[in-house]
Amino acid sequence: MRIIVRILEFTAGALFIALLAVIVPAREKRVEQPLPFNHKKHVEAGWECINCHPFADHAQHAGLPQAQECVECHKTEMPKYPDNKAMREITELLEKEYIAKGREIPWKVVHRLDDWVYFSHQRHVKLGKIECTTCHVGVDKMTEPVTKPLFPIPSYPQIFAYNESVRTMEWCIACHEQKKVTTDCNACHR
Ligand code: HEC
Ligand code: HEC
Ligand code: HEC
Ligand code: HEC
Ligand code: HEC
Repeated sequence: MRIIVRILEFTAGALFIALLAVIVPAREKRVEQPLPFNHKKHVEAGWECINCHPFADHAQHAGLPQAQECVECHKTEMPKYPDNKAMREITELLEKEYIAKGREIPWKVVHRLDDWVYFSHQRHVKLGKIECTTCHVGVDKMTEPVTKPLFPIPSYPQIFAYNESVRTMEWCIACHEQKKVTTDCNACHR
């Protein structure tokens, strides 16, 4: 009899885990980016975060790069990278689709808090002196475009978290408490 109970328990456990595996990814929001951008290669090429996200140290939003930014390196005459196929292909594409047509690259914004929360990059990057990758964990090592948020939100199974918002808030407040910054509701909800 005890063995049957064990087996039933095991089966129920396995079913529960299988269910989680279906539900958890379905709850994640993912977006498609227009180009196969690779952070790792560009950070290795010596470019700083701020070169491509130019407003992060003096405005609320960090900003995404315009096609003109890319042409700094992806030029048709490329003495620095003569035999790089990936480089040549992407350069031709950028020229044809964006520069020649005067069109911007339609990047999709992934990290976006609701309107009723105030967050300023300038405040955290300039005054707070916090590294980008403290908040955007691992983006410098990514070989594929960013399709979902990279905030280090406490990692218990999503199914137990009723609301993503509450967890984002926990993350903000945890650091504010640690750094002795305000946790007054009105500082963030204004
Ligand atoms: C600092 C110079 C530099 C800038 C600025 C730059 N790139 Fe690149 N990019 C490179 C180099 C170098 C490679 C090739 C790396 C390799 O293949 O090893 C590359 C490769 C790529 C690739 C191919 C990726 C792959 O995995 O092979 C894409 C796509 C790309 N760049 C997009 C962009 C876009 C879009 C911008 C502007 C937002 C940009 N790059 C700005 C230097 C740069
Ligand atoms: C050569 C340009 C370039 C450099 C250097 C670069 N980025 Fe990016 N970044 C991009 C582009 C293009 C995108 C949009 C495509 C994507 O999602 O990968 C992006 C997307 C992001 C996003 C997601 C934005 C969103 O939509 O919410 C974050 C966060 C980010 N970058 C942080 C960083 C950090 C931190 C660094 C420095 C370690 C860095 N980036 C360096 C070009 C760059
Ligand atoms: C204290 C944590 C924190 C730090 C430090 C930080 N970010 Fe962010 N980042 C966020 C949050 C939160 C959002 C969503 C903001 C919103 O919705 O207004 C965001 C959004 C972004 C975005 C997408 C939308 C936009 O244009 O703002 C990019 C790109 C980005 N950050 C890049 C950077 C770069 C580059 C740095 C370093 C120079 C940096 N971040 C430093 C927390 C941070
Ligand atoms: C350090 C910043 C910060 C402080 C302080 C803060 N919050 Fe938040 N709060 C947030 C963020 C970030 C979110 C999530 C917004 C999102 O996901 O776009 C949030 C979300 C919420 C939500 C929405 C949750 C849901 O169910 O959607 C409520 C309600 C809320 N906060 C109430 C409060 C109250 C009450 C206080 C004071 C005791 C407080 N907050 C203090 C940053 C903060
Ligand atoms: C890694 C630590 C860290 C995280 C995470 C963080 N903050 Fe902060 N925050 C700081 C520090 C440090 C300051 C004080 C900067 C200064 O002015 O010197 C600050 C200041 C602020 C202020 C200004 C407070 C005032 O005195 O008026 C607001 C608003 C704010 N943060 C909102 C947020 C929100 C919203 C989030 C989450 C989305 C967040 N912060 C996440 C460290 C953090």
